[in-house]
Amino acid sequence: MISFILNDMTVTCTSPPGTRLSEVLRNEMGLPGTKIGCNAGDCGACSVLLDGETICSCLTSVAQVNGRNVISIEGLHTDGSIAMLQDSFLAHGASQCGICTPGMLVAASALLRINQNPSRSDVENALGGVLCRCTGYSKIIDSVMAVGIPLIPDIRPEAGANVGSSIRHLDGQPKVDASLSFGDDTVPHDALSVRVIRSPHHHASFTIGDKASFLSRNPGIHVVLDSTDILGRNCFGVIKPFVDQPVFAESIALYRGDAVAAIVGDVQSIANFQETDFPVEWQPHLTILEPDLALSVDAPLLHVGRPGNVLVRGHVECGDADAALANSAHRVEVHTSTPFIEHAYIEPEAGYAVRDGNRIIVHGCTQAAHMDRESLAEIMGVGLDDIRVVPSACGGGFGSKLDISFQPYVALAAWVLNKPVRICYSRGESMRASTKRHPSDINLKIGCDETGRISGFVFDGVFNTGAYASWGPTVANRVPIHACGPYFTPDYRANSMAVHTNAPPAGAFRGFGVPQSAIAQECAYDILADKVGMDRLAFRRINALKNNLPTVTGQVFTNGVGIDSCLAALEPRWYAALETAKNFNVTSSSEGSPWRKGVGVASCWYGCGNTSLPNPSTIRMGISADGKIILHQGAMDIGQGSNTVITQIAADALGVRVHAVHIVNGDTDLTPDCGKTSASRQTFVSGKAAFLSGEALRKMILRFGNVESDAKICFDGTTILLDDTVGGGTARIDLATLPVNDYGYVFMAEETYDPPTSPLDEKGQGIPYAVFGYGAQMMELSVDCELGMVSLDKITTAHDVGRAINPLLVEGQIEGGVAQGIGMALMEDYKPGRTENLHDYLIPTIGDIPIFEHILVEVADDEGPYGAKGLGEHVLIPTAPAILNAIRHATGASIHKLPATPDKIFAAVTAVNLSKVGKT
Ligand code: FES
Ligand code: FES
Repeated sequence: MISFILNDMTVTCTSPPGTRLSEVLRNEMGLPGTKIGCNAGDCGACSVLLDGETICSCLTSVAQVNGRNVISIEGLHTDGSIAMLQDSFLAHGASQCGICTPGMLVAASALLRINQNPSRSDVENALGGVLCRCTGYSKIIDSVMAVGIPLIPDIRPEAGANVGSSIRHLDGQPKVDASLSFGDDTVPHDALSVRVIRSPHHHASFTIGDKASFLSRNPGIHVVLDSTDILGRNCFGVIKPFVDQPVFAESIALYRGDAVAAIVGDVQSIANFQETDFPVEWQPHLTILEPDLALSVDAPLLHVGRPGNVLVRGHVECGDADAALANSAHRVEVHTSTPFIEHAYIEPEAGYAVRDGNRIIVHGCTQAAHMDRESLAEIMGVGLDDIRVVPSACGGGFGSKLDISFQPYVALAAWVLNKPVRICYSRGESMRASTKRHPSDINLKIGCDETGRISGFVFDGVFNTGAYASWGPTVANRVPIHACGPYFTPDYRANSMAVHTNAPPAGAFRGFGVPQSAIAQECAYDILADKVGMDRLAFRRINALKNNLPTVTGQVFTNGVGIDSCLAALEPRWYAALETAKNFNVTSSSEGSPWRKGVGVASCWYGCGNTSLPNPSTIRMGISADGKIILHQGAMDIGQGSNTVITQIAADALGVRVHAVHIVNGDTDLTPDCGKTSASRQTFVSGKAAFLSGEALRKMILRFGNVESDAKICFDGTTILLDDTVGGGTARIDLATLPVNDYGYVFMAEETYDPPTSPLDEKGQGIPYAVFGYGAQMMELSVDCELGMVSLDKITTAHDVGRAINPLLVEGQIEGGVAQGIGMALMEDYKPGRTENLHDYLIPTIGDIPIFEHILVEVADDEGPYGAKGLGEHVLIPTAPAILNAIRHATGASIHKLPATPDKIFAAVTAVNLSKVGKT
C-alpha cells in the first residue's frame, strides 16, 4: 500500500505502484485540476510539487512518491500566496482557455517560494517546461513578476462605459482556481470508455475479422462498432456540398488515422487494450502525400467526382494582370512553400455522451456546438431536437475543434449500450487524426512602376487538403481574395487549388490559408521595394488600400479601411529600429562577431466571417421576475474572450453594468445558434447580434415604463427603476407582479444579425465580407550567421480593431497569434507518421517569445458593433513574413521554404556570403 502526503493530508493509494501520479490524482483522489496534455513529459500541464520541486506527474509513478509530500493545484489554494498569483493572472489576462493555467500556477508558485522578486529570465526558466498555445506567454511572465506589487485594479465600469474597458475575463475565476471543467474532467462515474481503431497506414484496404470471437476473448469489451452500426449517414463534414468523411471507413482508409472501428468497454480494459490486438487485416496501397503526385495523370483518385484529385479551385481576377506585369518597371518572382502545421492545443479531444430516452446528450470540448448538433443528428439518423450538445470548457481549438472528432463515437456507443460512454484522445491520436493547417506551394509574380506602385500581380497557390474536404473549400476560396494583402492592386489574378492526398485532412487553422499567402506576398514586397530603392515601410504605405478604392473583388469601402493607419503608427519605431540595427551591425562586423540585427515588417487584412455565405448569429437576452439579466450567447468561448466581450457589448446596448449580466453559454438547449467560433466572427457578428438584442430589450423596457429613450435603467431587487434624465420623469417596474413568457422572462429580446455579403461571380467579383480588419507588425531580431540561430528581440504590433471592446483581451489575442506565427516561421513542421508528439513537433516555449509593444488602432467600421472588427485570425498573419523579412534584412538571405530552421538559415547565409565573393 502506497501512502503519501497530498495537499497536507496523508492519503493511501490503491492503484498499482506503476500508475502515473497524474492518473492517481485525477481518477483516484478526485483532483482533476492536474491536467493531461501529452502523458510524455512534454507539455507540463500535469505539473505538481513533489517535496517543493516542480515535476511532471505523468512521468512519475505513484510508487515514487511513497512517503513524500505532493502538492497539486488544489493544495496550493490553502497557501495564501496563490491568491496573489491568481489575482495577478486575472488582472493581466494571463489565462485564456485555461488548460495550461494549473501547471503554470504550480511552476510559478514553486519559483515564488524561493524568489519573491523574480526577473524575466527567472520566470522563463521556472516555467520553461509548461506549454501554452493561447497566450504567447508574455502576460504569464508579467503576472508572475507582478506578484507582490500593487496590481491593476479589478475594473467594474458603470453602465455606458463597458465597451472600451479592460475588464478581467468574466469567466476567469474558475480558470485560475482550477475548478473549470474540461472535456475529460467531469464524467459520470459509471461511464464506459470507447477507443477508436485507426489506420496505421496512409492508404490501405482493410477487412475486420470475427467480432464475436474477439468479444468472447475480451470480456471487458462490450461491443465493437463499425460502419455497419451507423444509424443514419456514415459521413460528416463542415461544408454541406463537400461532406465526405466517414465516421468509420467502410473498406478503404485514406489516411493514417482514418477510423475503421471502435471498441467500447470498461475503463481499465479499454486503457490496457493494445490496438494491434484488434482483428483487422490491412492491405496497404500506393501512398500519395504530395499534391504534385496527386495531380499526375496516373494518380489514383481518392474521391469519385473529384477529377485529378482536385477538391476545389478558387479564382479572383480584375484588370489585366499579364499586361500590367509586362509593362512593369520592376518585377519580382518568388516561390514559397509551407508544411502542415498542427494546432497543438493542450487539451486533447475529450468528452462523454449519455442516452436520455430517445435523446443523446453529448458533453465535451468544441468550437461549434450547434454545428456539432446538426452533424450528429445526420449521423445518428434522428431529428435535431433529439441531440443536445453541452460544451465543456475548451482547452484550445484554433480551428481544429470546429470539425467533429470524438462526438459520433461516444454518441453511437451510448445509444447502442444505453450507458454513459467517455473518451479522451491520447496526444498521439489527437495529432494523428485531427485536421492541420494546409501546406502550400505558391508561385507569385508582382510588378511595380518606377515610383513603387503595384502594377501587376499573378498568384498561383496549391494547397494540400489531405484525405477529406474539411475546410479545404474555404481555404481555396478565401486565399485568392486575400493574396494581394491590404494593398490597392488594380491588375490582379489569383488562382488556388485544394488537392487531395493521403495526408490528414487539412482544415481550419487561424487564418484559413491567408498566413501562407501573406508569406509569399510580403516577402515579395520587400524584394520589390529594394529593387525600386524605396524604404520597405514607405513602399507599403504608398500601396496601402484606402477608403473608396476597390479591393480585388471590386468591393469599395467608404469607411473603416485602417491599414495605412497601422503602418503610420509603426513608422517612428521603424526608423529608430533600422538605425539601431545599422549601428549594431557596424560594430558587430568590426568586432568579428557573427551576430547581425535585422528589422522586418509585414501587414495583414482579413475578412471577418464566412466568405459570401450566410453567417448569422442569434442572441437572446431576458429579464427574469427576480430581477436577473440573463444573456444567452451560444458563441463558444475557447479562450479568446467572447463571453466577456459579447457581454460588454450587450450591457452597453441595454444600458446596465456588465457585471450585472449573467451569462448562459454554449448548451444547445439553452442558447440560440451563434454560429461557429471561427473566421474572427464572434466579436463582429455575435457582438452585433448582442448589440441588437440589448438595444431591443432596452426599447421594450423603456416603452413599458413610458419614458424617453435616454432614460437610465437601474435594478433594485425585483424592481426596475427608470430615470428619465431629459423628460424628468421616473418609473418603477415591479417585475414580480408581471407575467413571464415560455422562457421564464418578463422582458425578452432575441435578435439575429447576418452580415451583408453577396456571392462572387466567375471572376471572383462581389462582396465576400461586410468587414475587414487590418494590421501590421514589425519584428526586430538577431541572427547568429555562423549557427543560423535566430533570437527574437522585440515585436511591435499595430492592429486596427475598429473599436477595442476590451483592450486587455485584444492584446492577449495579438500575443497568442504572434506566438503561433513564430512557430510557423521558425520551427513547426508536421510530418504524418513522424511528428505525432510534442517532442518531435516543436511549438514555441516561454523562452521563444520577444518583448511586445502594442499599438491599438481604432478606425471604426460602420457595420460592426460600436465600430468593432474581428481580430483573432489577423494577428497571426503578419508574424511569419515579418520574421523572414527581418532575417533577410539582417543577413541578405531569403528563406522561402518554411520553417526557417537554423540549418536552412545557415545554408542561405553561406550562399549569400559566397555569392558576394563571386563563388556559388
Ligand atoms: S501531461 Fe505530463 S507533461 Fe504533458
Ligand atoms: S491559456 Fe495556455 S494553453 Fe490555453
